[in-house]
Amino acid sequence: MDTKRYHEDEITEAAQLLQAGELVAFPTETVYGLGANALLPEAVMQVFQVKGRPQDNPLIVHVADFQQVKEFVENFHPLTEKIVKNFWPGPLTLIFSIKKDSLAPVVTGRLSTAAFRMPDHELTLELIREAGVPLVGPSANTSGKPSPTTADHVLHDMSGKIAGVLDGGATQIGVESTVLDLSDPSQPPVILRPGAITQETLMAVLETTVEVDGHLVSESETPRAPGMKYKHYAPDTQVLMVHPQDWEQALQWVTESGMRAGVIAGPEIAELMRYQAAAVFMLPQDTVTQAAKGLFAGLRALDEPQLALDVILVETFPETGLGVAYMNRLGKSAGKRWFEAKAD
Ligand code: TXA
Ligand code: MG
Repeated sequence: MDTKRYHEDEITEAAQLLQAGELVAFPTETVYGLGANALLPEAVMQVFQVKGRPQDNPLIVHVADFQQVKEFVENFHPLTEKIVKNFWPGPLTLIFSIKKDSLAPVVTGRLSTAAFRMPDHELTLELIREAGVPLVGPSANTSGKPSPTTADHVLHDMSGKIAGVLDGGATQIGVESTVLDLSDPSQPPVILRPGAITQETLMAVLETTVEVDGHLVSESETPRAPGMKYKHYAPDTQVLMVHPQDWEQALQWVTESGMRAGVIAGPEIAELMRYQAAAVFMLPQDTVTQAAKGLFAGLRALDEPQLALDVILVETFPETGLGVAYMNRLGKSAGKRWFEAKAD
């Protein structure tokens, strides 16, 4: 299959393919999604096949407006209207309990709930409107690889396997949406996956308690966000997180060991490491916003086999605001491993 790159003026063609059951990847403000008609179980099944995704990991249903959600949902949480008004379109996925059989089991992973999101991207909102159906959209990467933040990343993983990708340039945010569980109307909302819409922001806007599912998911139990249990975002090269104060020691370690090290960091650390590192992926600024935006692209770039790196060292940020989501994704790609500085 030839995978076509669609541009803004070809949305109608891409929408027709989706409606007919073909797979077309689409841009969002977070990462690229692998689109399929959510109402055609055979099309959705193919999404699992081309990604190599475990079948029990449910998908997000992408809509162009809140109205589209109503036909599926049984019972809305009392905060729904306020949340949708304030945060949609945007990087916030909402879990609701759904009407029986309103969505195919392949979409929901056989749960009685489903995830919905209205992405903040004009091209994709237009694509959904023109397709006339909601679209499932897991991140458009091969399962276990970093999520794609450009159309080129999508083509790298999906070329020959899907009908096309709608090219909307590099994504704005770079980490996947916050997943918020609203399935129990009598309970406070619970964050199942951290993203750009933070607990602080939700609590301030909603003026209510918002919990975080802090439960660490082990292989043997069923997590509340099923996707959180799988090894994610992992390049083949070992990734190590580096505390801000440990870069001098990291430099010394790379120098003495003769390791082929890659570095993902802002200008200051990039400058420090530039002569000893085998490859540097420099973020344009030393902020968590830029780090989140560039993390997956950096991991993909430095994981290229021809670089033959032994290790990838990555800048870390405090776990507040967007830093929670950034450190969550980085922690997964690093298997929670840190560069360990020796005590003096
Ligand atoms: O930003 C995003 O959310 C991107 C873009 C493309 O929209 N999509 C994305 O999809 O990250 P995916 O499939 O990679 O992640 C969906 C997450 C998974 O962790 C999944 O387990 C969880 O949402 N999820 C889906 N349905 C659920 C449900 N009914 N209950 C709990 N978690 C659910
Ligand atoms: Mg994903």
